[in-house]
Amino acid sequence: MKAVILVGGLGTRLRPLTWNTPKSLVPVLNRPFLEYVLRHLKEQGIDEIVLALSNLAVPIKECFGNGHHLGVKLVYVVEESALGTAGAFKNASELLTDTFFVLNGDVFSLLDFHSMLEFHKRQNSLVTIATIPVDDPTPFGLVETAPDKRITRFLEKPMPIEVTTNFINAGAYILEPSVLDSIPYDTTYSAEKQLFPNLLANNGRLFAFPSTGYWIDIGNPQKYRDLNFDLLSGQGDCDFHGKQEVIIGDGCQIHPQTKLEGPVLVGDNCVIEEGAVISGPVVIGNNCHVGERAFITDSIIWNETTIATGCRFISSIAATGCELQAGSCAEKAILADYVTLIENFRLTSGSVIEPQQILG
Ligand code: GTP
Repeated sequence: MKAVILVGGLGTRLRPLTWNTPKSLVPVLNRPFLEYVLRHLKEQGIDEIVLALSNLAVPIKECFGNGHHLGVKLVYVVEESALGTAGAFKNASELLTDTFFVLNGDVFSLLDFHSMLEFHKRQNSLVTIATIPVDDPTPFGLVETAPDKRITRFLEKPMPIEVTTNFINAGAYILEPSVLDSIPYDTTYSAEKQLFPNLLANNGRLFAFPSTGYWIDIGNPQKYRDLNFDLLSGQGDCDFHGKQEVIIGDGCQIHPQTKLEGPVLVGDNCVIEEGAVISGPVVIGNNCHVGERAFITDSIIWNETTIATGCRFISSIAATGCELQAGSCAEKAILADYVTLIENFRLTSGSVIEPQQILG
């Protein structure tokens, strides 16, 4: 059975991290996010995967190629301009002649696709939507159901007073190919806001498949941090890096007089100098340099970044190629690619800095 993964969105809520890096490639424990989604599909025996691309298509293709290294067969379908979540799989119609899965490409979950498919068939469903309970459903799309799980109503981003269930659309669907006939060609069309409500209004058999377990949508920086730190601390059933507290990549030079308090992940070819303190949770990418007496905590650092002598980097994210010169500080900050903080500059807490800015 085929799965289409939607990875063509703009990722606006995750900017400025996603100006150069598509959301599907942002590093999670130093691996591109989409790799986790592909591995989960493969583990469940789904290895024919269509990636629906639009924005920043080239780096995604370059990263995953034909999927061979992950044991999956990848095919790419590229929209000239973004067609929306339903327009994206309409654009792949020729490849979708049988029942198929659709997954949002920004969701990490441990959904049981086999059980979902069995449920879909048992219910003779046209569209089955995985749902998940969350504490606060107001930022999401609510899915109301009858006791037999037939969907009765969709409610996008409800007001607190409108909340009738805490089950939300989990961003994973099974569709019958006939659904494609309800989507216009070459038109921007949303699955959540147009296709599904229209099918429901026409008495289509739409069912919810309620699931539980770890689920997170990395749509914004807070959720992106949460996923990294959850996986780092062993949640999410992810043991790509084993269960060690401090994991150091290949080719690193770590001075013996440093303090690394887990959970900490350091990528390959990093240098950590004397007196540096790294207090987890912290993820550091490849080819990074941490200078003498630098202090880093509660942070994510992508590749090729320097946190020089005496810097403090607290509860922050630095993308690729950033340079914090000696004595500079950042707290609760997000630094996009190639940001420089000049010597001894103290960035205002909570700052979000666009790519290539030099501050100081
Ligand atoms: P925001 O701009 O922050 O809302 O992010 P987004 O549009 O990238 O993500 P959203 O949560 O709105 O979309 C859910 C999933 O669908 C993400 O994996 C997106 O990459 C993907 N997606 C959204 N719009 C399109 C589209 O027009 N084409 C394709 N191929 N994928 C899309």
